[in-house]
Parts: sequence; C-alpha cells; structure tokens
Amino acid sequence: MGRPLSKAKPMHGETALPMEFGPAGPLRGTPGLPGDKSISHRALMIAAMARGRSRINGLCEGSDLHSTASALRAMGVRIERDGDSWTVDGVGSGCLLQPERALDMGNSGTSTRLLMGLTASHPITATFTGDSSLCRRPMDRVTGPLGRIGADFASAPGGRLPVTVRGLCPAVPAVHRLDIASAQVKSALLLAALNIPGITRVIEPVPTRDHSERMLAQFGADIEVRATEEGGREIALRGEAELKPREIGIPGDISAAAFLIVAALIVPGSEIAIRGVGVNPMRRALVDLIGEMGGRIALRDRGDRDGEPVADLEVRHSKLKGIDVPPALIPAMIDEFPIFFVAAAFAEGVSRTSGLGELRVKESDRIAAMAEGLRAIGANVEESEDGLAIEGSGGAPLAGGARIESRLDHRIAMSFAVAGLHSKTPIEIDDMRPVATSFPGFAETQRGLSR
Ligand code: S3P
Repeated sequence: MGRPLSKAKPMHGETALPMEFGPAGPLRGTPGLPGDKSISHRALMIAAMARGRSRINGLCEGSDLHSTASALRAMGVRIERDGDSWTVDGVGSGCLLQPERALDMGNSGTSTRLLMGLTASHPITATFTGDSSLCRRPMDRVTGPLGRIGADFASAPGGRLPVTVRGLCPAVPAVHRLDIASAQVKSALLLAALNIPGITRVIEPVPTRDHSERMLAQFGADIEVRATEEGGREIALRGEAELKPREIGIPGDISAAAFLIVAALIVPGSEIAIRGVGVNPMRRALVDLIGEMGGRIALRDRGDRDGEPVADLEVRHSKLKGIDVPPALIPAMIDEFPIFFVAAAFAEGVSRTSGLGELRVKESDRIAAMAEGLRAIGANVEESEDGLAIEGSGGAPLAGGARIESRLDHRIAMSFAVAGLHSKTPIEIDDMRPVATSFPGFAETQRGLSR
C-alpha cells in the first residue's frame, strides 16, 4: 500500500507523483495529525492584525498555509518558524503594506478569499492569482459583498482569478446578509471589518464553521454572536480593533482525520485512536453520521484548546449501513463528502445525498470526480446535478485496479488512496502532490498504521 510508482510524468513543468494504494492489513496505532487548516489560516491572519508577537503551536504545515504566510510577509508581516511553533510579528489592523508583486495563492481558496477581505479595507492594491484549479473557482461570492464596503475589484471573466483588489480606507460599515452558506465569505467580511470604523454586521441564514468568530474573540476583538429567529446567526464586530498578541494552540484537523477514520472503518480488524482532534459542532457532522451508519467511533477526553472543542477519537472496523444524508448536516461536513462517498461505497444498502451543488466548485468538481472514480473501481453510483446515490458493497472489497486523476484536489487523492486499502487490486493515483496542501506525510501516516 502507498507505494510510489517509478514512472513520473511532467506536469506544469514539475514532476507528478504517481502512487499505488493496494490491499492492506488491519490499521492499528495512534497516528499523528496536522493542525486544523481552517483554524491555522485564521490564526496567522488574525495574529498579523494584532500589534506585537504571537506564538502559534500546532499550525498546519500544508502548502496552503505557506500561501497565506507568504502573502502576509509580502505585506509587511514577519512570520517565522521557531522550533515546533511559529511566531507572527503582527503589524496591527490598518497597517498592511502595499505588496510589490502579485500574490500567488497556489491552490488555496481559503487564503485567497480571506485575504481579499483583509486587504479590502486597507489603502493598498493587491493582485491575487493561483494555480489552474484556483483560477477556475468563483471569486464573485466575496468580491460582490466586499464591494459594498467600498473596495473595488477587477476580475478575470466569470469573476475568476486573477483579481486585483483596490482597498478603501476608511471603508464603510454595513449589514451583510449572506446569500450562500459560506464560512469563507463570512470570514472575509469579518476580517475586512477589523479595519472599518463602527460596527459591521454579518447575518448568515444558515450557520457555518465559526472559527473566525472564536479566534477573533481569543485575540480580544469586540465581537458578539447571536442566534436569529430563522435559525441562523448574526455576528456584530466593532472595527478599528486593537487586537492583543497571544500564544495559541491549534487542534488536530478533523477533515484530515476523516480519511484515517474511514480507512479504519472499512479495513477488517482495524482499531486506531486519534488524539486532540478539533470537534467543533460546525465541523464534526461526519463523525455523528458514521455513528448513525453503525460505525464504531467513540469520543473521549473532551476538552477545549484556546476556544475550540477537542477530543480523542477511537475508531474500529465496522459494518456500515447506507444512509440518506440530511441536507441540514451539509455545512458541518462540506469537506468530508469525498471520503463519505468512499464509506458509502463499502456500506450495506444505498446512501443518497442532494443539495451538494457547492461541491462542483471546490478544488475540483467533486461530484463528477467521485462519481467517475468510484465507478472506475467497481462501485455502483448514480450522479445527479447536486449529489450522488451509491449502492455499497456491504463491506466486501471493491474491484479497484483503476488509475484515478487527482485533478489538483487533495481530497480526491486521499479518498481514493483510502479506497485502495480495501480493493482487490491496487488503485493508482496519477499525482499525490496535491495532498501536501493540507496533509503532508499522509501516505506515510497511512502506511505506518498497517505495518
Ligand atoms: C473553509 C470553508 C469552506 C470549506 C473550505 C474551508 C474555511 O468553504 O469548504 O475547505 O476555512 O472557511 P466555503 O466557505 O466555500 O463553504
């Protein structure tokens, strides 16, 4: 399992990293986990807006975080690795400098959209660009709302990258009602609000991950969150914030853990424990859903790490039953659908999903990528505009034996790397490089568990 293949093909001037994932023995042990990617982005950006030195422990070391760090450095923030932690010399809100060159955000949508928010209320002009996956993704969802604070945007056709932001300072405090459920859009507006005089309000009809709100509160922002009558949330943030630098710890990434969780669930005889995983209610829906599918997963030693709930997870091989995913759970497992589809392909009976149109505009079109890949390895899949119906194997191995394109999408690559562990013949992934955006060392971690 997890064997690098000798042949390599050139891609974007570099060398692709094909790997093969085949049948494995039981997974056993306590794997290490990267820090939560979403929370890590926020920690860097919010620490940059405090005045003075912050220390971050457990930061995700994926290349998406390097995109955030280099963009902040290009705007005058000193960020350095210091042993196991990172130091950020925050400049204070309003004090980002004009970058000299375009900001290359690589593959990272979160870096791009959140930093567009941060720059929109600064008196600077910044151009954002990225790789071919990122340049296909819609940016008008942030440039539209940020236009209402007075910032100006020039985008490539279709509201895509490259995008040049001309920030306005002082920008205008406004009441924003989100028309899509997106933590990235909400966070872009809240980060912009840090440097806007007065109170900015963001109303989200459907609650999404609240890491920005929690992290802002940790750094001393004047922020209030209340539930709305329609079941959403209203967030009020007072701008011209004087954030205080601090030391902060990042929980393990539940979205990275999800791949190891499903690997342990589908490979007979497996039993693993994952420590210090972030279990924010707006992120942990996959764990709850797996319980309903009959998965043996237990949460122990629950605690809190700097404002975020954490727990240890124990997972054992299980007989899973197919399930219809309630649409209300979608925001709290939006990144977990690729690996959920793999779990469904090994469950007994049919699993159905709908309302997943957003998956078509992630790092790849995840509905198409998963439907095509799962069929190629022998699963029974029906694709609709906004979801998949999957008839599972009842726990039996799938045929495998296919070559899967990772499409510059880390989660597609890791999903099929997991599926390969319980397939009759190995699955080849054409390029594992995208995995380094969020989970460097994933293949070694997975391999280490079945030794
Ligand atoms: C993220 C929010 C989600 C998620 C992405 C990370 C974040 O995107 O899919 O991987 O860190 O805010 P949307 O806000 O577009 O749903």
